[in-house]
Amino acid sequence: MDKSFSDLDKMVKGWMKEARLKILKALNDEIDVWTKSGRNDLVTNIDKEIENFYIEKIHHFDSEATIIGEETFSNDDLDLNGVTWYLDPIDGTMNFVKQKEHFATMIAIYENGCGVRGYIFDVMRNKIFWGGPDIGVFCDNDRLTPPINTSLRDGLIGIGAPYLIHNFRNLQKVALQSSGTRIYGSAGIQILHVIEGKCVGYVSYLRPWDFAAGKVLAETLGLSVKTIDGKSLNMLTSSDVLVATKNAQKDIAKLVKKS
Ligand code: IPD
Ligand code: CA
Ligand code: CA
Repeated sequence: MDKSFSDLDKMVKGWMKEARLKILKALNDEIDVWTKSGRNDLVTNIDKEIENFYIEKIHHFDSEATIIGEETFSNDDLDLNGVTWYLDPIDGTMNFVKQKEHFATMIAIYENGCGVRGYIFDVMRNKIFWGGPDIGVFCDNDRLTPPINTSLRDGLIGIGAPYLIHNFRNLQKVALQSSGTRIYGSAGIQILHVIEGKCVGYVSYLRPWDFAAGKVLAETLGLSVKTIDGKSLNMLTSSDVLVATKNAQKDIAKLVKKS
């Protein structure tokens, strides 16, 4: 990338601010909604429009970049050498459609498989969380301090609804040992809750665009971002993902059943 990182940050945040205005405008218009893998997996014309908007901007900036976007992803032979951009144009589409809040637009940049930038824009709070290992993490212009290393017992835990309902890997026990469970339906928003110290952890089955930006931000702040078994995440495949304080991660590891 032949742009300084500060120019890059300004540019990407500019795109996301433009995207936010498009999304806000769409909230007053009629939205086309389709289902994908099932009746609760939605996509709208706005998801598609925002993803195409980002792709056009990225290609104009770097025609060589690999782009892994939720709405345009195909399982072509991808490798993670060079620069990869991850796009989730609207994370929490169900919330966007049903609630008109609790959703985010997210971009991440990785180089040779390593996260360099994450950007999560909480659209209705109008707050953008962004940063990377070389500069730290910011909410708008304010630098975030790493969250306190709270234990599971002393904090709230976010758990994906299917995992909790089906007691995946004994996660009901994890919920019971915590101060309480929270489910919001947007991986980006839930990872922000861990970053901001509102929850000690978040665990769900996620795809790379769901966790790419959050991983950069959370790891930069010293949080653990791994599979439930403590393995490194594969940036090309879906898996269970646990974002947690180091203490909560250890507490959870003692409670979950082996896979
Ligand atoms: C979904 C949300 C949800 C998570 C799902 C994701 P989408 O993303 O992040 O919280 O549980 O696994 O697919 O489809 O609204 O971008
Ligand atoms: Ca999405
Ligand atoms: Ca998503």
